[in-house]
Amino acid sequence: MTIHVLTEVDSGVLTVRFNRAEKKNALTSEMYTAMADAIDRAESDRTVKVVLFTGSEGAYTAGNDLGDFLSNPSGAADRPVNRFIAKMAATDVPLMAAVDGLAVGIGTTMLLHFDQVFASENARFSMPFINLALVPEAGSSMQLVEACGYKKAAELLMLGEPFDAGQALEYGIVSVVCPADRLMEQAMAMAHKLASKPRDALLATKRLMRRPKEPVLQRIQAESDQFFERLTSPAAVEAISAFMEKRTADFSKFD
Ligand code: COA
Repeated sequence: MTIHVLTEVDSGVLTVRFNRAEKKNALTSEMYTAMADAIDRAESDRTVKVVLFTGSEGAYTAGNDLGDFLSNPSGAADRPVNRFIAKMAATDVPLMAAVDGLAVGIGTTMLLHFDQVFASENARFSMPFINLALVPEAGSSMQLVEACGYKKAAELLMLGEPFDAGQALEYGIVSVVCPADRLMEQAMAMAHKLASKPRDALLATKRLMRRPKEPVLQRIQAESDQFFERLTSPAAVEAISAFMEKRTADFSKFD
């Protein structure tokens, strides 16, 4: 338990709020543990369909706590940071972020794993690993290339210079840029929209989209297996019956 990460569930959305504003929400081992635990909870609690990460005004997060880095430089898989990275990269539960202000280091690289990222016009991103004599982490050396192409990714990772929300949108790191005073409202509206979807189909959609590149016929087969399995699910029967009966489908009873 740490007071530096606050969690709250509302109508299917689990909000994870970094709460260490005095240190620009720099992430400690205890915070990574709380973040990984939140994803665990979202996976096991069927009433949760989306996890939304956010920070405080002016600071999403200044990245890994640099003091923590020095005092515990181990790369063990069970280290809290590694547990969090592995969980966020592997989960089928949709992940979102609402980013205002600083998003440094893992504050930016985690976003590459998220399904939707809302940024305020004040958001400022950087991956300054090179300036700390480090290398990219959390899969960013691969995912950033996929997001924005090799040349731009090389510039961002080899120079480590900050960039703004408009550039992050152009580079495929964020999905929506909005005024700071509308950030949470807009991000939450999207999160609630996602949370109104049938859970099993939502998670299965993400799982399909996250499969490694493969021959298209193999992917068609994987989709078909899921499609026909889903077709007889109670949620699909409800959706189709609702259409026939000219009413709105209610998936809540299947969560
Ligand atoms: N780890 C530990 N403490 C951090 C931190 C980090 N990553 N980022 C900020 N802090 C602390 C500062 O030490 C300071 O603490 P203090 O008030 O006890 O001295 C406090 O947060 C406020 O930071 P400050 O540097 O005064 O704010 P700023 O607005 O002038 O600058 C940053 C903000 C993020 C640009 C600057 O703090 C910074 O460069 N931090 C390091 C970022 C980094 O390298 N992260 C790791 C990437 S791998």
